[in-house]
Amino acid sequence: MDEQSKAYPGQRIVVRYNAKRCIHFAACVRGLPAVFDPQRRPWIVPDNADADALAAVVGQCPTGALHFERLDRGSVEQPPEQASVQIAANGPLYLHGDITLQHEDGTPIGSDTRVALCRCGKSSNKPFCDGTHKAGFCDAGLIAPQPTTPATEAGPLTVIVGDHGPYRVAGPFVLQSADESETRMCGKAALCRCGASQQKPFCDGSHQSIDQEIFA
Ligand code: SF4
Ligand code: FES
Repeated sequence: MDEQSKAYPGQRIVVRYNAKRCIHFAACVRGLPAVFDPQRRPWIVPDNADADALAAVVGQCPTGALHFERLDRGSVEQPPEQASVQIAANGPLYLHGDITLQHEDGTPIGSDTRVALCRCGKSSNKPFCDGTHKAGFCDAGLIAPQPTTPATEAGPLTVIVGDHGPYRVAGPFVLQSADESETRMCGKAALCRCGASQQKPFCDGSHQSIDQEIFA
């Protein structure tokens, strides 16, 4: 899912950066400021750190804007055994796992280990978050008391992005509230992507009564 990425090659590792997926969370800048310096050109200099340390910081980018490719036979990124969906307060859904995204008709969107999905309905890069939620989306990121399909095993996640409706997430995952006060094992769930549900993060059908342009 990185066809729009720019490569920053080093001796032992290549960092790939997709600006459209970056929401300036700055985990990279905080983690390795010698490598990631937004004031410098190029802003990513992979040889300014140990390749293993750099790979670890790249893996903390929650949106999947950053990826790496090892040139030195170092270990590649592995998805976590247990997939998770973390709700961000006033922000997106952060997915971490072996994730495949597709449209309702089966057209592939791509696969990744880290993805930030828009849940305010206003991103210009749907289904991915582009940071537009900062302009006023308001939701504490708690889990509405709605029954979910339980699951116990680990495995990959499939996300079907509804043309005019929610994300249908299938596969075992841990759903985490923004304040980490609640975690719930789910087998599948329909998660709101229009921002209008009163049962967030779940879809409650409110999308049927809002402007369908929001899904474009
Ligand atoms: S950690 Fe990822 S999303 Fe955050 S600023 Fe760096 S590249 Fe952007
Ligand atoms: S997608 Fe938001 S209520 Fe269904």
